[in-house]
Amino acid sequence: MDAIHIRGGNALFGETKIQGSKNAALPVMAAALLIEDVCMIENCPRISDVHHMQELLESIGCKVRHTNSTMTIDARNISQDTVAGENVKGMRSSITLLGAMLGRVGEATMDYPGGCVIGERPIDIHLNALRRMGVAIYEKEGSFTARAKNLEGAVISFPTSSVGATENVILAAVMAKGVTVLQNAAKEPEIVALCEFLREAGAVIEGIGGPVLIIQGGHKLHGICYRIPADRIVAGTYLMSVLGAGGHIFLEGAPIAQMRSMLRIAEDIGAEITISREGINVIAQEHKRAVPYVKTEVYPGFPTDMQSPLMSALTTAHGVSVLEETIFEDRFHIVEQLKKMGAHIEQKGRRQAVIRGVESLLGCEVTAQELRGGAALVIAGAMALGETIVRNRHFIERGYEDICRDYRNLGVNIYTA
Ligand code: EPZ
Repeated sequence: MDAIHIRGGNALFGETKIQGSKNAALPVMAAALLIEDVCMIENCPRISDVHHMQELLESIGCKVRHTNSTMTIDARNISQDTVAGENVKGMRSSITLLGAMLGRVGEATMDYPGGCVIGERPIDIHLNALRRMGVAIYEKEGSFTARAKNLEGAVISFPTSSVGATENVILAAVMAKGVTVLQNAAKEPEIVALCEFLREAGAVIEGIGGPVLIIQGGHKLHGICYRIPADRIVAGTYLMSVLGAGGHIFLEGAPIAQMRSMLRIAEDIGAEITISREGINVIAQEHKRAVPYVKTEVYPGFPTDMQSPLMSALTTAHGVSVLEETIFEDRFHIVEQLKKMGAHIEQKGRRQAVIRGVESLLGCEVTAQELRGGAALVIAGAMALGETIVRNRHFIERGYEDICRDYRNLGVNIYTA
């Protein structure tokens, strides 16, 4: 139970449609809380993180329906100011409800958020930025209360780029009195999606997609219908799979413009990439080249969420590859698991891994410890000879609607058990 079985070792052929983006859907769901009206969110992925966010919104009083891929959120009546429970502790993105609650009711009591075991993941940048907007924070063991009598616009310069902190301040700023200027804001496509959603709902935001955002707060927001963009990380996962296993696949609806850094690396490895309005066509050779050095970076650099999937693909590349993780300090959990499959990887400290390509991986039982690492083990399973069993499927289900369905579309023998 809670496992994925893969009989790997064959090249991938076929096409698969890319689901809506987890990291865009979650803050957009939080943003719906700001709107005393009904919002429709189309292409909303059916994944456990979205389901948990739905439960949190319902616990605050929202009426939420998720039918097929459309979610309807009715936030006309909010009943509570406490965001608590296991869903907060287990899901990092629950922190975006902080900015949304402050914007909507001026107060929130929350448990400290949890998330994947990929590093410390503090929330100091979120809290310090909100303090500048007039928010008082009272910390207790395991939880805190944030309160703003008058939420006020401010000039906020982030010390480092943070996706979640940028989202939180945007959510508070659209409801604040006056203008908020965000400097060194995160530029990830998921921030753009959040800003577009809010702008369509009536917020005034300038500089979308850039490092400086200017938000005029206080505009009344109204219900809208918004379509979540395709998930660049899910598309990247299947891209890395075909690089690893070889073959010819089509990624229908993949967000090409958001995937430039991944596509450049795919070409360096030796894949032939053709893009069209409909998606990305990838032809990958069985014999692939190592990449001398790749480091993870904030957007538009190579994403940290793709680091483990790339590592799996490189385990059988010809030559030596070096991966450096610059965003999170503990994101090499899969190294030991890949070594069990025969990979030759040397970890240097917590930030660098040196991968010497081997002839092939061998299937065995491995354990997922977090979302993207789990997906990377499925990639390794598709590449490996024999059967691979990936334990802890629930981590993967946080972000992938049905990873087995998608791989079966690409001809992989894979099932849950
Ligand atoms: C978002 O996490 C994503 N999560 C992550 O995706 C993604 O890996 C990450 O951004 C980087 O792109 C969601 O969107 C739900 P950060 P977030 O704040 O917002 C440090 C996935 O697999 N930091 O940009 O938590 C932090 O420790 C997930 O889908 C502080 O020090 O990331 C990290 O080193 C996993 N203090 C760096 O900043 C703070 O207050 C960037 O984190 C906040 C962050």
